[in-house]
Amino acid sequence: MKWKVFVTRRISAEGLDALRKAQVNVDLHDGQEALPRDEMLARIHDCDAVIITGGERVDAGFFAAAPGLKVVSCHAVGYDNVDVAEATRRRVIVTNTPDVLTDACADLTWALILGVARRVVEGDHLARSGEWRGLAPTLLLGVDVTGKTLGIVGAGRIGAAVAKRAIGFSMRILYFARFAKPDMDALGAQRVTFDEILRESDFLSVHVPLTAETRHMFGEAEFRKMKPTARFINMARGPVHDEAALARALREGWIAGAGLDVYEHEPKIDTELVRLPNALLLPHIGSATVETRRRMAILSAENLLAVLDGRPCPNIVNPL
Ligand code: NAP
Ligand code: GLV
Repeated sequence: MKWKVFVTRRISAEGLDALRKAQVNVDLHDGQEALPRDEMLARIHDCDAVIITGGERVDAGFFAAAPGLKVVSCHAVGYDNVDVAEATRRRVIVTNTPDVLTDACADLTWALILGVARRVVEGDHLARSGEWRGLAPTLLLGVDVTGKTLGIVGAGRIGAAVAKRAIGFSMRILYFARFAKPDMDALGAQRVTFDEILRESDFLSVHVPLTAETRHMFGEAEFRKMKPTARFINMARGPVHDEAALARALREGWIAGAGLDVYEHEPKIDTELVRLPNALLLPHIGSATVETRRRMAILSAENLLAVLDGRPCPNIVNPL
């Protein structure tokens, strides 16, 4: 039987090759942006499987539009955009792409940490502006990273990879976790309470998934507990912080800076946040390297084929 698979956006060619080699009938929306919802739902109606990105909402309406669906393969590790309970109820398997993107995301988290600490984007703008008047001892002063305290909230794969890199900067590493994390302990990191991590971190880096428990984990009360010299970094999901409260915290100096890859209402960004020079903003590109996106495309194809062919798949989110 020839399976039919819809791919909601352009992904690396190697992932599509893997599907076509397996004699799958591929319908690709070959664009960077999401299709209008109606068009997407029309195109999935006779599909056995879909490869989706974090930008698609996979809810009851999505499942109703594709009654023959067997697999939702997320081209992402996070799957908060998928109603997994509804998928399970309909006996649709959901898969994701862990591990292959861990290093790329940890590297970019460090770009945010260093970029915010050393005002890299402000420096770039000044250098290009024609306004730069030459070397000056107090121009664009940042803060040291070496020797400071890094707090990790969400001490999983990406959080641990960020912590590992901090050893090179001789940092004191703290983490907040619901359960013990031997990988973090092995790095010499210290498990602390949520209150302690807020109060003691110079750089607080967030790597939790978006769940009911983590939504707005960081709001006004939390930002007010942080040091006025602290920098808040979010490489996880926007709704984990309250964006309006964060903008206020940055404007009023409750904290000194923020480095963000994710936003509460993507692709919209709080208009005040956009104007603040102490916020370094990236457009959700944590895993966006050629090599990583290639691995994600191949893995999302392999996950999907394994499920359709009834072979073991290590990346099932909802084993039925
Ligand atoms: P992971 O290995 O599952 O790590 C997530 C960690 O968060 C786990 O250790 C989990 O620990 C912890 N956690 C969950 N709920 C928590 C809570 N309420 N309090 C404290 N800790 C909690 O996932 P990952 O591969 O590192 O990815 C993490 C997240 O990053 C993804 O879910 C995704 O949303 C985001 N992400 C973003 C990008 C981007 O482009 N910006 C790219 C990739 C991933 P326990 O369950 O043991 O408590
Ligand atoms: C990207 O945001 C992912 O979850 O992989």
